[in-house]
Amino acid sequence: MQATDWVIFGGTGDLSMRKLMPALYRCEEEGRMVEGSRVLATSRGNTTQEEFVQGVKAALQKFLRPGEFEESTWVQFAERLLIVNVDLSDVASWNDMAELLKASAATPVYYLAIPPSLFGGVCATLSSLDLVSDSARVIVEKPLGYDRESAEAINGEIALYFTESQIFRIDHYLGKESVQNLLALRFANRMFENIWDANSIDHVQITLAESVGVESRGGFYDGAGAMRDMVQNHLLQLLCFVAMDPPNALDADSVRSEKIKVLRSLRKITGDDIGKHTVRAQYVDGEAGGKPVDSYIGDLGKPSRTETFVAIRAFVDNWRWKGVPFYLRTGKRMSGRYAEMVIQFKPVTHSLFGKEQNNQLVIRLQPEEHIYINLMSKDIASADVKLRPIEFEIDLAAECNAPVADAYKRLMLDAMTGNGTLFVHREEVDYAWRWADPIIAGWKKNLAPLSYYAAGTNGPESSEDLMADDNRQWHVQD
Ligand code: BG6
Repeated sequence: MQATDWVIFGGTGDLSMRKLMPALYRCEEEGRMVEGSRVLATSRGNTTQEEFVQGVKAALQKFLRPGEFEESTWVQFAERLLIVNVDLSDVASWNDMAELLKASAATPVYYLAIPPSLFGGVCATLSSLDLVSDSARVIVEKPLGYDRESAEAINGEIALYFTESQIFRIDHYLGKESVQNLLALRFANRMFENIWDANSIDHVQITLAESVGVESRGGFYDGAGAMRDMVQNHLLQLLCFVAMDPPNALDADSVRSEKIKVLRSLRKITGDDIGKHTVRAQYVDGEAGGKPVDSYIGDLGKPSRTETFVAIRAFVDNWRWKGVPFYLRTGKRMSGRYAEMVIQFKPVTHSLFGKEQNNQLVIRLQPEEHIYINLMSKDIASADVKLRPIEFEIDLAAECNAPVADAYKRLMLDAMTGNGTLFVHREEVDYAWRWADPIIAGWKKNLAPLSYYAAGTNGPESSEDLMADDNRQWHVQD
């Protein structure tokens, strides 16, 4: 395996320090950094090498798990670190970096941890300096645009200099173990094969709940809202993994083409249906962790009608999923931080006992990676034929005797080895926007009024109503 030059544009920024440096440190710890690999971080200011190295050390001590930082690994990792002061808009200032890269035989992986408005310019400069070899790769992360048109413009600019197989669009949810495990559950177990469709499944729920508010990201968030921040990308990607047909292999093309089919089959929500099938809401004053917390407007410091919560009843119009609702929900300042996918099965075909509860498969992504399977069983404490529901709980970390791996590390290693299976194809971004854009446009026309929920709760009444209208309710894990 060849050495890698990790070039992190925006290398001293928040994403780099919080996520990327810990991920690369973990690659070091696992011996996945090939001899000669380097980590070059670009910075606009005049950061010295010493300041940069100390900054990374402090970030690792803060963001790694307790006990994970080890001096010996750090010493090795620190030797790979290089700060390069580059003004992205001034080509002349790129010379040092260009020389460093040209002098090495390592494969460059460019991580654009910078605003998307700079992606095109950076790619153009890399190309003009002859730094885009056939083996070079570029990693980009959302927000990839604001709507379909702007996403196309960004993707189009990158595509002028990198081929699709060189572009790695990160959705960090795809790096989470439980999401990958969903592929294993579905496609490595015969028992699910014939029941994974509208004949057996009543509905699916996907919830990504956060307890934090908008924090210091108000500037970005207020222009985006929960729909662009979480639904158009993370939630739809999870929906794809639940709904897709089996790919014929696990390579990037096979998996992506199945996901694209799902996105293309998503029923558009337009006109009056926007009020029927979507809920948007914003948090007001409430409580978190037993303490009073501010409203979104209070956090933001100015009036706003941006949604911090979304619930949607979506449909995938194909043979497999005809008539099966996919309820999607996400929000800031909810009652807790958790993410889960719930597969709710239909009742048994003919009831013999009279009191059967429907089977349920719950895949928890966080805070813990657990799988729950709910079955009906005979209650052996009773002499009569009495049923009781039982729950199997599988704790993946305990089962595998390993801590849950870091999503960024997994995805960065995949980008390094050129495996695009867990990345997002340009067409996926496009189809996801085609579905999201009309909803956002309808909201602008107030086709679904903005509702409100107290911080620390599970969203507005209208979100409960969305389920109650179908005689269903949101899943609550005990
Ligand atoms: C990001 C969003 O993509 O995902 C954030 O921009 C959100 O607003 C975050 O907080 C949630 O990620 P995780 O992995 O903490 O659930």
